[in-house]
Formats: sequence, structure tokens, C-alpha cells
Amino acid sequence: MPTLSPTGKDPRSVKADALVVATAATPEGPVLLGADALPRGLRSALSSLSALGVSGKADEVHRVPSGGQVAAPVVVLTGTGSLAGDEAPSLEALRRAAGAAVRELAGTPTVAVALPADDVATATAVAEGALLGAYAYRAYRARTADRHKEPVATVHLVTPRYRDRHLKAAIERAHVVAEAVAATRDLVNCPPADLYPAEFARRAQDQAKGAPVKVTVLDDKQLAAGGYGGILGVGQGSSRPPRLVKVAYHPRGAARHVALVGKGITFDSGGLSIKPAQGMETMKLDMAGAAVVLETVLAVARLGLPVRVTGWMALAENMPSGTAQRPSDVLTTYGGRTVEVLNTDAEGRLVLADAIVAAGEENPDAIIDIATLTGAQMVALGNRVSAVMGSDDALVADVRAAADAAGEQFWPMPLPEELRASLDSQVADIANIGDRFGGMLVAGLFLREFVPTTEDGRRLPWAHLDIAGPAFNESAPWGYTGKGGTGVGVRTLVTLLEDVASAR
Ligand code: BES
Ligand code: MN
Ligand code: ZN
Repeated sequence: MPTLSPTGKDPRSVKADALVVATAATPEGPVLLGADALPRGLRSALSSLSALGVSGKADEVHRVPSGGQVAAPVVVLTGTGSLAGDEAPSLEALRRAAGAAVRELAGTPTVAVALPADDVATATAVAEGALLGAYAYRAYRARTADRHKEPVATVHLVTPRYRDRHLKAAIERAHVVAEAVAATRDLVNCPPADLYPAEFARRAQDQAKGAPVKVTVLDDKQLAAGGYGGILGVGQGSSRPPRLVKVAYHPRGAARHVALVGKGITFDSGGLSIKPAQGMETMKLDMAGAAVVLETVLAVARLGLPVRVTGWMALAENMPSGTAQRPSDVLTTYGGRTVEVLNTDAEGRLVLADAIVAAGEENPDAIIDIATLTGAQMVALGNRVSAVMGSDDALVADVRAAADAAGEQFWPMPLPEELRASLDSQVADIANIGDRFGGMLVAGLFLREFVPTTEDGRRLPWAHLDIAGPAFNESAPWGYTGKGGTGVGVRTLVTLLEDVASAR
């Protein structure tokens, strides 16, 4: 993570290897935002942005020589996108513009960022984007490190609010959150040979050292003794046995308790219902939900939020072998419900079923699960918009509000009652696949069956987040998001838990 310090200096005199300023696309053409930050000579050199090929679009980053007119040798123009009239860029446009510039500037040690940041909210957004953009996964490149540019190490954030204690606090929070996002990306990017259930559990214990968080690991023997048939069934084809990890943060005086449940398939080959080669290429991503859960609980603990949070990571490797579960096998999930496994590639819902029931035993105020659950999520919403479903409209609305504030995109999806019957099994309580159309919703309906009901017979507030597409960026980098693991979900959940903590 880079160091980021606010400064009230004139951007012209900030010592850095590059000075970043914003552009925007307006009906009158491309403009520099906050051009007064630059000396007149440079401004006139930049007066014809179009001639330089600058349009102000998002994700457009240009470098121009400063000609010695400012302390930095290079001026970087980063697009914030379309603006109508004298409208200001949105907070998310600022995050992305700062992130795109810092990401593109990898290999540049020190960067001054002078985007429009006149108040605490905008300065915070710029800081968040810069921190999120300064990421690279380098764990397997020690020998060729010199051929790969290092992320920006120092960011000077130019803002008139540089002394504001609210900004200081917001930057500290941004650091904790960006670290959590980076740690999630690291886990997702790790090759599955090296990140298997026991190792994932060990890393959870390791990362929690020194934090007020208690990590409990159930190994395969304990899972068998406890009757966790879903996790065991999915994991039984692998030579590397499954785990259920509980990550508990229970601060004194917390009024509310939220359970987070994450899908942690460290590799999804599909099992005997094996995936084609192409479909398997990215399947190390299939533990992203569990990574989000772990890093969210740790971030909430680091922030010291007054809310109890219990994370559940359902970890298994889904492999075909002589010991793998077969299509038409019936397993008994934790708590006793039986499931006919008609397709071993619909494994996420099986491990989540156990974990949701286990989470419910503590009677939390809400259960939120997060999972790279269905290819259908990507068909419906693409690679940048995640889905949120649930039994409780207020909780779904809270998730959406938190996502909006955090700068992540979550869109509400229905759980149509008429699809439920498609999950009926000939032999067991329920089958693990149903109608192919609406596959994301069918998966949601399957999970709903395992959400416990309270004494008065109502279902505990529950939300299901399907992040299949957004968890992993296979396309070109954009904004503060590089290729590979994105860490999506962490910022929404941390923000949601802040909201819960402050509403008590
Ligand atoms: N892990 C996949 C879902 C997935 C697909 C995530 C692509 C990210 C990118 C999941 O376990 C799966 O295989 N789902 C099946 C379910 C089907 C068999 C009902 C799917 O979506 O095809
Ligand atoms: Mn699968
Ligand atoms: Zn899967």
C-alpha cells in the first residue's frame, strides 16, 4: 500500500515524479478541471486538448512533459468522463480517475494528485481511488520483478482541506479498506495449487493474529462429526480436504450481530460434471466470497466498529476423482435437510447451505452471503454489476445504499416463487439444480431454503450477493480495477456494517 499524505501546497511546487490533473468531456469539448492549479504557460500549451488527443473520457490517461513549468517533470491528464454544464464529477468518477492515473503510473515512485478535491468528501474519494489503483500482484514474479513496474509508492494528495481532522480520519479508514481490498485480490489471484482449504484456513488464522478476532477452524473430521454433508460432499473428490472457518469479531457493547457467509471453492473444476477447459480457466476465483468475508471482518475489527460480525468461510476444492460425489448422490446438509446432487458443478450452494445453517444457530440479526455463484449472473448483469437478492426488502435496500456510497454496483434481483418447484427432487428434500433459465434466481431460491426462521415463523433477514462476474476482471483494466481479482464486495460490506454500527 502506498503512503498517502494530504498537502496544502501549490501543486506547481509539490516535488513528485508526476503531477496528475483531471480532465472532463463537456458539450463544449474537453476541459481541464481546476486548471488554475497549473501555471499560465502550461495552461496555454494544453489549451487545445483535442489536438493532444484528449477527450476527457473516463479511463483516458495522457502524459505530457511539464517543460519545467512545475516541479514535477510530467503532467498526467486523467479523464473523469462526461459532465453537463458546470456539473462536478461524481465521487465515483473521481475515485476511478485517480485510480486509473495511479494504476497507469506504476513504475513512477512519487505522484502528486491534484484533482478537484475542495471538500472532505471529494478529497476522500480521490484518496480511495489512488490507494485502490496502486495494486499489483507480484507474489510469483520475484525473479522478473525488474521487468514489472512497481506500484506507485507515495501519493501527495493536493487539497485545501489538508488539515481537516475529518479528512485525516477518512484517509485512515480508506487505508484500512484499501488494504482489505488488496488482501482479497491477493487471495483471489493466488494459484489454486497453493491456496487449498487448509492453507486458506491457515492464512485466516495468520492474518487475524493481533486483531480482536477469534478464528475457529473445523477440519474434515470435525465436519464429519458435525454432519456438514454439503461441504464434505463437495470436498470429497479432492486430495485436499475441506474446512469451515469461523471468524468472529465481538466487541463489548455491540447491539447488533451480522453474519457473513462466503463461498470458498479454492478451485472449481465442476467435479464429475466437469467444466470445459475454457470454463475452468478462471475458476481459482471461486473462493472470492470467502476472501471478502475474511477481509471484511478483519477490516471491521481494525476500524473498531461497534457491531458484532461473524464470518463463515465454507472452503472446499471441487475436483473429479474416484472419491468424488456423483450426479444423483444424496447428501445430508448440516441440520438434516437432504439434497440430491444432480450436477456437481452447482457446488457453491451446497457448501453455503451448511454454512448458512451454522450461521443461523447464533441467531444473528441478519445473514448476508456472498458468492461467485452462477454463470447466469454474468449473463444477466455483465462483469461490473453484481446481484443482490433476499428475503427482506429493507436489508436489500441497505445493501444497495451501502454499495452506492462505496462506489460498487449491486442490482436487485427477484426470487420468483414459481421457480421454486423446479428444485423439487424425486428422492430428496430438494435438488441442487432447477430451471436453467433464471439460473441465478434458482440458486437464490435454493439458498433461501436454508435460511433459518425465527420463533414467530418468519425468515431471518437474509441477503444473497452473487458476484460471479465482478469478482474477477478478465478484460482490460479500468478505473482503480486492474486485471484479475477485484476485491468487489469488501467496500459494500464494510460500509453496510458501518451503517449498522451507527444505527444502534
Ligand atoms: N463457480 C461457478 C459459477 C461461475 C461461473 C463463477 C463463471 C464465475 C464465472 C459455479 O459453481 C457454477 O459452476 N455454476 C453453474 C451452475 C449450474 C450447473 C446450475 C453455472 O453457472 O453454470
Ligand atoms: Mn461450479
Ligand atoms: Zn463454483
